[in-house]
Amino acid sequence: MKTIISTIRHDEKDDEIYKKAAKILQNGGLVAFPTETVYGLGADALNSDASAKIYAAKGRPSDNPLIVHIADEEDLYKLSCDVNDYAKKLVKAFCPGPITMILKKTDMVPDTITGGLDTVAIRMPSHPVARRLIKDSGIYIAAPSANTSGKPSPTRASHVIHDMDGRIDMIIADDTVDIGVESTIVDISGDMPTILRPGFITLEQVKEVLGKAQMDPAITEGVAAGVTPKAPGMKYKHYAPNAKITIVKGQQDKVIEAVNRMAVESSRSGHNVAVMASSETAPLYTAGQVIDMGSRNDEAETARKLFAVLRQFDESGVDVVYSESFPTDDVGQAVMNRLIKAAGHTVIEVS
Ligand code: TXA
Ligand code: MG
Repeated sequence: MKTIISTIRHDEKDDEIYKKAAKILQNGGLVAFPTETVYGLGADALNSDASAKIYAAKGRPSDNPLIVHIADEEDLYKLSCDVNDYAKKLVKAFCPGPITMILKKTDMVPDTITGGLDTVAIRMPSHPVARRLIKDSGIYIAAPSANTSGKPSPTRASHVIHDMDGRIDMIIADDTVDIGVESTIVDISGDMPTILRPGFITLEQVKEVLGKAQMDPAITEGVAAGVTPKAPGMKYKHYAPNAKITIVKGQQDKVIEAVNRMAVESSRSGHNVAVMASSETAPLYTAGQVIDMGSRNDEAETARKLFAVLRQFDESGVDVVYSESFPTDDVGQAVMNRLIKAAGHTVIEVS
């Protein structure tokens, strides 16, 4: 398949791009597009043949449901039969924006995009390109992140092209994806609002708006054996570069000492080694390729860089990575959640 790649110019020439993309979506095709979090891979949510193509293009397991992207609050009532007070409050506080709500679905929503669940994930993105695409096409857009299943989500058009060129109809390029980690997922289909995936909007912010909320235990403790995770995506390998990542945490000087020692050993045994560090500590590492992940006071910058850095490891043949543990006051919660998954839960505590 020949993939059309079109770059948004933010002038009237864009009209042609939207027209073409809307037509492809209406005809059951696939279009990748930017959102404020990561790039999405879109198809008509109510057309099961179209969404089946998403699973094929990504190599995604069919039981892992998709998020439906909408433009307006009233669309919630078409997709969910129980738009409760939690939903109304979250919409008022955070939409459009980087939050996804899990709600009871209506019959209109096909089982093919919910993995057979009786709930549906709904998100109203704030990115102007995503919003216009939803409005111009006049459909609800089912869209997972536009990466090959298991790989880091794409934050740049080059990432989408790398994974999807030749597999989908069109890629809309506009490198203004500025959050860099996927939306916060909140399950509000039950009594206790539960965060199934941390994101830019934190547990504390959700709690403040809803009065109560909790982090799903599977996030803090990992998915226990024999337990079915609430977000089917939780059980799959994710964000993983080819390299083996080890997170090293503890007192700062001890971390630096341990990483320097391990990085030297790995380099000596022939590995291509990288170290992920904060701006403050980066100059103190003496072995491997040192990657500055941004200041410890700027969790948003680390979030923006994370997936591009993970992808860069594959490009440059890095096969062993040591990473500091980054602060988790804010969007850092999401950064560490993704990094721990990328590391396959390999965390060393030094003392
Ligand atoms: O920021 C984002 O959310 C991006 C952009 C493109 O909007 N999308 C995204 O989609 O990250 P995806 O498919 O990569 O991740 C969706 C996650 C999966 O872990 C899936 O299991 C979960 O949402 N999910 C979807 N529907 C669900 C449901 N009904 N109940 C529980 N979890 C659900
Ligand atoms: Mg994804």
